[in-house]
Amino acid sequence: MPLLGSLLEKSAQRRASLQLTDTDAFRLVDGVGDQLPGIHIDLFAGRRLISIVGEQLPQDLKEWAAKIGASTYWKRLDQHERESPRHLSGVPQREPFPILEHGVRYQVSFQAGYSQGIFLDQRDNRERVRQRSQAGDSVLNTFAYTGAFSVCAALGGAITTTLDLSQPYLDWARDNMHLNEINPDGHYFCKGDTFHWLRRFARQGRTFNGIVLDPPTFSRDDKGKVFRAEEDYGHLVELAAACLAPNGWLLCTTNCRRLADHEFERTVRDALPKSTRLEAHAMPPDFVGENYLKSLLAVI
Ligand SMILES: C[S@@+](CC[C@H](N)C(=O)[O-])C[C@H]1O[C@@H](n2cnc3c(N)ncnc32)[C@H](O)[C@@H]1O
Repeated sequence: MPLLGSLLEKSAQRRASLQLTDTDAFRLVDGVGDQLPGIHIDLFAGRRLISIVGEQLPQDLKEWAAKIGASTYWKRLDQHERESPRHLSGVPQREPFPILEHGVRYQVSFQAGYSQGIFLDQRDNRERVRQRSQAGDSVLNTFAYTGAFSVCAALGGAITTTLDLSQPYLDWARDNMHLNEINPDGHYFCKGDTFHWLRRFARQGRTFNGIVLDPPTFSRDDKGKVFRAEEDYGHLVELAAACLAPNGWLLCTTNCRRLADHEFERTVRDALPKSTRLEAHAMPPDFVGENYLKSLLAVI
């Protein structure tokens, strides 16, 4: 316990110096990067979520959680059931609640399954999308999940199109817009497969000033068609590029561990015109452990 306690203390101090202003959700402990292999702790507006590999939560971690008193949940990273986190200690958080990130609000839930409604490792990319978006722009957010990128683009002034296979996630995206005083009726929401919609937009001659591509590593659409990031990302980029307005940008990200940084960069580069400028971006500074998220901003 004393060792674990002092390492947790150190991780907290390290984050305090990051000065994450207007932000109450970030990674508090990032495994090996904080000398705590296999332990990840995220902070969500005062609540804590511990993610671990394995079935058993270490006893000293349980004791630490009980001592801090805050509402604490935990989940296994290596589960197949994709279950919601389990309550560990403190006051149970039974309702969805808002978190704040650079002054932007997002709804988080500990009851909605394996993911909580926001991927904290995309924080800097969300900010990039907000900075790039301006009044008069149109931004397409594919594989949108709860629409966090759409909220940022809309706050920048763009008219957004939010695209996902799941209607509940599209509804959540609308709620996230409401939370930020954006009227979702001024934006578009498309339910369905990204590949299908990109082909359709291209046929219709519909273009966007910016497109976000953040697909899951593996997915199967409603017709059973499989997407594997390591095999299909290049094709996805080609389809998206066909829907970009002149001087448009594409944010290409993936957490596919089977794709090395240089392979991902080559895949994206090969799918785009020669004149494209590619910027590679590192993970946010609270993610000090494994460097799994690859982010390329392509300006055509
Ligand atoms: C990893 S999440 C995306 C995270 C999101 N970009 C963010 O940062 O908030 C994957 C999302 O892709 C959606 N999805 C999976 N396959 C899809 C497909 N073929 N077309 C559209 N959406 C898909 C899932 O429903 C899920 O919401």
